[in-house]
Amino acid sequence: MLALRRASAFLVLFLSAFLPPPQRAQDPGMVHYIYQRFQVLEQGLQKCTQVTRAYIQDFREFSQNISVMLGRCLTYTSEYKSAVDSLALRVERAQREIDYLEYLREADVCIESEDKTLAEKLVQEVEEEKKVQTLLNASCDNMLMSIKSLKIVKRTMDTDGSWMKDAVSNSPKIYFFIGSRNNTVWEFANMRALMEDSTKPGPRKLILTHTWQGTGHVIYQGFLFFHNQGTPNEIIKYNLQKRTVEDRMLLPGGAGRALVYQHSPSTYIDLAVDEHGLWAIHSGPGIYGHLVLTKIDPGTLGVEYSWDTPCRSQDAEAAFLLCGVLYVVYRSGGHSLHRITCVYDPRGIISEEDLPNLFFPKRPRSHSMIHYNARDKQLYAWNDGSQIIYKLQTKRKQPLK
Ligand SMILES: *[C@@H]1O[C@H](CO)[C@@H](O)[C@H](O)[C@H]1NC(C)=O
Ligand SMILES: *[C@@H]1O[C@H](CO)[C@@H](O)[C@H](O)[C@H]1NC(C)=O
Ligand SMILES: *[C@@H]1O[C@H](CO)[C@@H](O)[C@H](O)[C@H]1NC(C)=O
Repeated sequence: MLALRRASAFLVLFLSAFLPPPQRAQDPGMVHYIYQRFQVLEQGLQKCTQVTRAYIQDFREFSQNISVMLGRCLTYTSEYKSAVDSLALRVERAQREIDYLEYLREADVCIESEDKTLAEKLVQEVEEEKKVQTLLNASCDNMLMSIKSLKIVKRTMDTDGSWMKDAVSNSPKIYFFIGSRNNTVWEFANMRALMEDSTKPGPRKLILTHTWQGTGHVIYQGFLFFHNQGTPNEIIKYNLQKRTVEDRMLLPGGAGRALVYQHSPSTYIDLAVDEHGLWAIHSGPGIYGHLVLTKIDPGTLGVEYSWDTPCRSQDAEAAFLLCGVLYVVYRSGGHSLHRITCVYDPRGIISEEDLPNLFFPKRPRSHSMIHYNARDKQLYAWNDGSQIIYKLQTKRKQPLK
């Protein structure tokens, strides 16, 4: 209910902030109607406990009506276009939160799918498959063959941390996150500045308005995406230039209730970027559950799709995505062997049988993070205070026989 109330509070705020004042609007009656209608709904939402579903439906209908009205607004005037656009975005986001709430309710209470006929299910499956194909349709068909080499770029005293380049832009800057929660980010001008401490100028210290949690952050087109410390599942998109929060989202599916990987003691949400875009990885229900993979639109922060993978969180230490395939690194055999023993391809083109033995060179501890960078096609990793680059060997994906 909290999320629902927040969603409606959000809307009220944005209605009042963005809608044109009634006397100036082309259709004052309509705007007034939105206000009034919303007020009634909001009061209802606050009271509701048992009748949640009815209100959710009402809210849905109402937001649909708003969308229709906004459409009309647009035809009246282009003056408020951007205001109306951003209002529409907020309505959409509130709808997503409500969808998530309903998802939770359904998971807890009832499963209606039994009513569905087999034919309906088949049609749905075909449609889902089409959606995935469209979503993961980048010209990228490489699969991992081996970890070719290791290069230790720097050594620090900190067992935990993460480091990375921007995953998509051409910037040579390196970002350094020491520890597993802090509000500080170090920005090095380039790789050389990182490697040679004596190089001037030294790193820039960026102090954020929020604290990041874990080691799963990514930099994507100048924005830092991170798990907001103190929340179970909030992801913040942070504008590093302006030092402001650009946007935020709640990762659905029970994210943040457990560690993503058994051997990574502070990461509850791991983000990743590959040729297809932005992803989040979290652990599903249960102790050391299976990993859940979610594709996120970095522009709107909408969830594009979510998959339950067969890869377990137990014994895992890190994971990354390469060409739309999830590779999970496990630790075994006296704790110094690091090996990829689970892969998950949402499109089903490759499976574990296609993979050779994927061992990492021996390292003293679990990796604090391993992230793939699609620009230079190598892995950035942190192990026992060392910042490591793994060079990779890949080959074209072979479809299953
Ligand atoms: C939405 O619009 C329809 C038709 O205009 C109306 O009957 C309905 O009551 C409206 N619903 C809400 C929740 O405003
Ligand atoms: C994938 O992309 C190609 C070229 O960009 C296009 O021709 C094809 O229809 C797309 N396939 C799907 C399933 O969207
Ligand atoms: C955050 O980072 C700063 C600078 O690296 C360090 O001095 C401080 O102790 C860190 N705080 C925490 C809570 O680790």
